[in-house]
Amino acid sequence: MKRSLGSLDPARLDGQRALVRVDFNCPVKDGVVTDDTRIRASLPTIRYLRERGARVILLSHFGRPKGGPDPKYSIKPCVRALESALGVPVTFLDDPAGEAAAAASRRLPRGGVALAENTRFYPGEEANDAGLARRFAALGDFYVNDAFGSAHRAHASTEGVARVLKPAVSGLLMETELKYLGEALANPKRPFLAVLGGAKISGKIDLIDALLPKVDAILIGGAMACTFFKAMGLETGNSLVEADRIEMARSLLARAGPKLVLPRGGVIAPELKEGITALTVPKESIPIGFSVFDIDPASVKEFSERIRAAGTVVWNGPMGVFETPPFDKGTRSIAAAMAEATARGAVTVVGGGDSAAAVAQARLSDWVSHVSTGGGASLEFLEGKVLPGVAALDDAA
Ligand code: 3PG
Repeated sequence: MKRSLGSLDPARLDGQRALVRVDFNCPVKDGVVTDDTRIRASLPTIRYLRERGARVILLSHFGRPKGGPDPKYSIKPCVRALESALGVPVTFLDDPAGEAAAAASRRLPRGGVALAENTRFYPGEEANDAGLARRFAALGDFYVNDAFGSAHRAHASTEGVARVLKPAVSGLLMETELKYLGEALANPKRPFLAVLGGAKISGKIDLIDALLPKVDAILIGGAMACTFFKAMGLETGNSLVEADRIEMARSLLARAGPKLVLPRGGVIAPELKEGITALTVPKESIPIGFSVFDIDPASVKEFSERIRAAGTVVWNGPMGVFETPPFDKGTRSIAAAMAEATARGAVTVVGGGDSAAAVAQARLSDWVSHVSTGGGASLEFLEGKVLPGVAALDDAA
């Protein structure tokens, strides 16, 4: 267990500078944040600190700039998005590693909020450079990591700074993420189901291996099912198959036995095109020239029934190409079954990234127990890996 923000004496936060690592790696188009989910997810921590008189200095990376500052990757669009979500002005610090930013952090009024420029404008960030971590540390009197989405990165603003700026505690979002994902793994209400989808099994092998001993069943969807079909000797037409993973899929099938539940069939078409007329076939009858783009209605029915009867469900990865109707039905139905299971008292957790986007598209985010803000981070957590951004925080007393 890590030390939490709530463990700090609230009376002693007054006037203190809280250096908070957030994950504001949000989608932006034409200088405007198009999805502020991650910004809104950080509000409880920011409000908690402001209400207790702390000065709040926020640090985040934004995109993957290479080779120093690049206006295309400025985090500035998040200033406006944060101001409108929070309802107060936000100061922008354009050089978080400079003396001027440290001085500006001291000039912030009690309850004031500042957002610093993209941490990845400094090469030392991804190298977890100790000097850069110390310069970031000069922006605060204590450190809060609320960036679950970046906790799998050992960077100067996530790991290095937590080693030099003390106390170093988890924020409220970080705590919520660790609670839901941690409890699902450590103490699941049964039956415990994992629903895994997405294009490739290569990115999910470690996850399947880590989950197999813990879950009652793993339901497989997405194009990755086709690599399993191929491993079973079935024709997969033009479907996406990872030729170099067929052997691995075969050994997984043998290891997992009936715990691994594959789709009964697929929704197929000769090409991926919105509105195209699609056919439904059993997995044994995928014709040459066609590709599987979604799970079939029989699998939707089976998966939905199992999800509705589960005690805990963890979902990672879409069932089909949900951005392109008519191949969105499998994923939407799984989202709806997750919501129904939640209403019946199940604990339902949606991994970040594509599955979070699918649940949001179905307008069901508020109807599941928890939607993670971390794509890669939730995957690594579920794989049982140590998240360096969490490991570096102080241990709970
Ligand atoms: C994410 O979007 O998953 C996180 O912000 C981490 O981003 P990264 O993969 O560029 O480190």
